[in-house]
Amino acid sequence: MGCTVIIGTQWGDEGKAKMIDFYSQKADIIVRYQGGANAGHTVVVNGKKHVFHLIPSGILHEGTVCVIGNGVVVDPVQLIEECQLLENEGIDVRKRLYISDAAHLLLPFHKELDGAMEEARSNKIGTTKRGIGPCYADKCLRVGIRVGDIFDEVYCKERITTALAIKNPQFERCYNREGFTFAETYDLLMTFKDYAGALAINTPYYLYNEAKKGKNILLEGAQGNALDIDHGTYPFVTSSNPSIGGAIVGSGLNPFMIQDVVGITKAYVTRVGEGPFPTEDKGSDGELLRQRGGEFGATTGRPRRCGWFDIELLKHTIRINGITTIALTKLDVLSGFETIKVAVGYSINGKKIDHFPSAMQDKIVPVYEEHPGWHEDITGCTSFKALPVNAQNYVHYIQDTLQVPISIISVGPDRVNTFEIK
Ligand code: GDP
Ligand code: IMO
Ligand code: MG
Repeated sequence: MGCTVIIGTQWGDEGKAKMIDFYSQKADIIVRYQGGANAGHTVVVNGKKHVFHLIPSGILHEGTVCVIGNGVVVDPVQLIEECQLLENEGIDVRKRLYISDAAHLLLPFHKELDGAMEEARSNKIGTTKRGIGPCYADKCLRVGIRVGDIFDEVYCKERITTALAIKNPQFERCYNREGFTFAETYDLLMTFKDYAGALAINTPYYLYNEAKKGKNILLEGAQGNALDIDHGTYPFVTSSNPSIGGAIVGSGLNPFMIQDVVGITKAYVTRVGEGPFPTEDKGSDGELLRQRGGEFGATTGRPRRCGWFDIELLKHTIRINGITTIALTKLDVLSGFETIKVAVGYSINGKKIDHFPSAMQDKIVPVYEEHPGWHEDITGCTSFKALPVNAQNYVHYIQDTLQVPISIISVGPDRVNTFEIK
């Protein structure tokens, strides 16, 4: 009964979806456990690019069942659009998808509020404007509407009335905008019910029983540990827990069912949106990483900020999540650098610190080491031995310093540009 959790170890976009697709070869069930359509998960198969926002990235493997867990905030408009896109490509997604009846629905007023709040803030977060913060806030305020709440007409109507009574005055008073009508909200929920209502089940019960039967379950994290609302660079974080705790809460599987925690780790670091980023390179090297790595957001198209590998950030993630193995991605992007920088320590106000701090992260001054680079294109490499010696040394260095095995290396966006280290 061993489930595998896939977690982003940095600020998201580490290449999680590519690795989910890889692990899905051997999985029966893939579960998204938190976040929403703020995620942009890219899988490339035979040169064809698929971007998923809500549907688990393992859906391209025909034998799999995909589950949207209770910890996810589900935008019905986005979900229908994504299903239709896949159905147009001949993938009968609704035959292999379940949605937790306890997942919260993310409605147009959440998206509108996300945009309005960003506009009003002087210190912007740079959210994806997908309504994530407002929807999780409503969940905590206990005014949210869950998937399972829309099947009983009287109850559903009561939930909408309650939600709008709280939301609409906020639009009118704070943002000088009209509120949302009961009719438009009800109609959207009924459209969703007709399209996807049959997919709603009690997912913790389903997953527990499937795990007991010996099914291989993969848990797909969105975002990354440094965007975690508790363990990330607050307030410049998302509103959920991408970390291991979120996997347990957001799937309903108990902790004893987790066997492996795979940390998806970019060979350098990127971040999209505002907030502290100690190893950011604002110069020509950062620009080179962005261009070579195609570092533009899969959800918003925004250029990603780029910088160097950060040992302390990784150690922080490893401690919190119990990472058992690392999949190192985008190693190919480092080809062509004379030297590769790695941050091996931090200081704040001239004082050395030995961990990733919870505050004053914008004051961190990294201490760098430089490693000799390589010039060969490594995209075609299919084994560790085929890598240039300096690339092998870089991988060994990271593994030895972090004391976690690197078991998979990704050297290009396509499914085939991946190999295991045996
Ligand atoms: P996710 O959010 O963690 O799933 O990652 P994204 O899909 O947002 O961003 C990763 C980007 O890098 C996508 O465009 C992938 O196709 C691409 N990618 C993934 N792995 C590799 C790799 O090893 N090398 C290169 N060059 N691109 C990769
Ligand atoms: P995947 O799953 C990278 C960032 C946003 C912003 C902050 C809060 O593709 O790795 P939100 O819309 O969640 O309230 O925005 O989090 N962010 C991501 N950055 N990858 C993601 O997802 C992200 N999802 C949110 O840019 O800084
Ligand atoms: Mg992404």
